[in-house]
Amino acid sequence: MAARTLYTAGITGVGMSFPEKRLTNAELEKLVDTNDQWIVERTGIKERRIVEKGTGSSVHGAKAAEQAMEHAGITPMDVDMIIVPTVTPDMLFPPTAGLIQEKIGAKNAWGFDLEGACSGFIFALQNARAQVEAGHARRVLVIGTEVMSAITDYEDRNTCILFGDGAGAVVVERVDESRGGIIDAINRLDGSGAKYLHMAAGGSLNTPSAETIAAKMHYVYQEGRDVYKFAVKGMAGITAEIVEKNGLTGADVDLFVPHQANIRIIKAAQRRIGLEDSQVCITIDRFGNTTAASIPSALRVALDEGRLKEGHIVVLCAFGAGFTWGSTLLRWTAP
Ligand code: COA
Repeated sequence: MAARTLYTAGITGVGMSFPEKRLTNAELEKLVDTNDQWIVERTGIKERRIVEKGTGSSVHGAKAAEQAMEHAGITPMDVDMIIVPTVTPDMLFPPTAGLIQEKIGAKNAWGFDLEGACSGFIFALQNARAQVEAGHARRVLVIGTEVMSAITDYEDRNTCILFGDGAGAVVVERVDESRGGIIDAINRLDGSGAKYLHMAAGGSLNTPSAETIAAKMHYVYQEGRDVYKFAVKGMAGITAEIVEKNGLTGADVDLFVPHQANIRIIKAAQRRIGLEDSQVCITIDRFGNTTAASIPSALRVALDEGRLKEGHIVVLCAFGAGFTWGSTLLRWTAP
């Protein structure tokens, strides 16, 4: 039996916030044995933004949320729920959702953090959609926010070139069914991927100690080549799946907004459904991989560039640690 839904959910506001400080490839050349040409050719990244030390994820998360609410034309008191996908919460508990709630004054909201690594945003979006469709919430803030610099080893050239800090947020709310809104989502989890990409210490398994710090277990560990293979297969596959499942082809897609992990992974997904460059939103050159913040902030960039209009067919997709991956199909619902 098909799931019973009462309402239609759509994205009606988007926001982003990034720290001012830029970390360029030239600066990384001074930290590790790498060079601008290698980084640009292998990843597409030219620079990323980095917070001042001691800035928690809630800071830019709150700013992105404020811009998303302003765009949607709602006030903090209108928000019923806050979901914060992040791998870098301010603290392991309490939830960063509450810290952001306090900063923005969304006193009527409840909420929680969601850990879905680089797929966190689209997992959270599916949760927000379900709450709105079921009538449990009218307006949900989904805020992907990361301080990846806090868990990045700037002596490890395999990882330090990839990540950046920042935040992106959307307002998901009830919209008229005729406008489309969020149409479909496919989400997946495969825990056998944990060994390839993780942060080993800081949780309950390896509690912080002098040994875990000496062994650099509080930093991102990644077997890049393996992750790359899974990511290409996962992202391209799940993008094609959602497009075909809904009787569409690449020609029907107005904008493809993929998680920004590596330009070559994005191109593979793009080729799989036959998209032109003009149909794809790329921000990795300026922001690097911002984990759960990459898709919502890319949506804001696309909006500012005039590439998101009422009725546009938009496809989101992500792949990340876990492994986690997924795609979302929506018809754009301007505020
Ligand atoms: N600068 C210069 N050389 C580097 C380097 C760097 N920053 N990092 C690695 N290298 C070297 C390697 O040591 C290797 O040298 P070798 O051939 O002498 O052994 C060579 O470059 C190729 O390394 P490899 O790891 O095969 O490169 P790659 O083409 O796979 O690119 C990544 C590395 C990390 C960019 C790529 O694997 C990747 O993007 N993986 C997935 C990342 C991802 O999506 N992660 C998150 C999921 S959200």
